[in-house]
Amino acid sequence: MKILLTGAAGQLGRSLQRTLGAHDVTAYPHQRLDIADLASVRAALAAEPPDLVLNAAAYNRVDDAESDAGPAYRSNALGPRNLALASHEAGAAVLHVSTDYVFDGGGHRPYHEYDATGPRSAYGASKLAGEHAVREHNPRHYVVRTAWVYHEQGGNFPRTMLSLQDRDEVRVVNDQTGSPTYAPHLADAITALIDTDAYGTYHFAGRGQATWYELTRELYRRMGISTAVVPVGTDEFPRPAPRPQYSVLTTIQEPRIVLPPWEEGLAAFCTRLDKAA
Ligand SMILES: NC(=O)c1ccc[n+]([C@@H]2O[C@H](COP(=O)([O-])OP(=O)(O)OC[C@H]3O[C@@H](n4cnc5c(N)ncnc54)[C@H](OP(=O)(O)O)[C@@H]3O)[C@@H](O)[C@H]2O)c1
Repeated sequence: MKILLTGAAGQLGRSLQRTLGAHDVTAYPHQRLDIADLASVRAALAAEPPDLVLNAAAYNRVDDAESDAGPAYRSNALGPRNLALASHEAGAAVLHVSTDYVFDGGGHRPYHEYDATGPRSAYGASKLAGEHAVREHNPRHYVVRTAWVYHEQGGNFPRTMLSLQDRDEVRVVNDQTGSPTYAPHLADAITALIDTDAYGTYHFAGRGQATWYELTRELYRRMGISTAVVPVGTDEFPRPAPRPQYSVLTTIQEPRIVLPPWEEGLAAFCTRLDKAA
């Protein structure tokens, strides 16, 4: 398959470049293609007509979006809309990636693909607008929601916690629960999905659930870090954007593609870090 990959330098973009090896991939990092610019998107598709446009680009600065939502809507709503529009014109399918933050987090069991959305933050609202635009503009679409993504390279929670390992103690939020997702595992699942023509909405996230505190404890244990990890409430770290308290994702969609447990993702991450050290 000929694939046009956007956001290719991000955590997921890099991972996809490895897992999509069997395909003919043209990879566009942000500097080479701004998905919010429709003329540029159309020109990219005309240069190398793809069978599938795979969008790994996004604006993920959740707190910044709360005071200035413009850049979030540009990259997370207008951008996917452009990709869906242009791919439909070119006779290609589109795969777009979204987030657990489209849910309000008030639930007490994992969210599946048919649960009602209700974003609490500007970021979540911009991502939900992107989902709607993709569904509206290209019937041959996959919308893949994921959560708490991390990779050896990139700005993410586990890397931030590793940077704090010289402290005696770290205080970590223990009342937000989600699905930590290792980017290469997400890329594997997406690579399996595009071999089907089963268009629709999918939840792909590390299996099981954890709080940020539990994720940190497991990370430090695996890396042999002795820093004390102290569980605290969200109220100790006030942030501009509200987070869903409970945003664990599960899947009931067919075909049923399930990621490994989050602990396996973290183990693979730690092994790769060890090898790189
Ligand atoms: N990271 C998470 O915890 C998380 C959680 C849930 C869902 N997701 C979703 O998962 C997907 C992949 O996320 P990720 O973690 O790989 O994100 P990432 O590492 O931040 O990568 C996103 C990439 O998109 C690029 N980008 C931003 N705006 C763009 C635009 N207008 N045109 C082209 N490229 C643009 C960014 O470039 P610059 O750096 O130059 O801006 C960056 O290289 C996204 O859809 C994200 O919303 C992520």
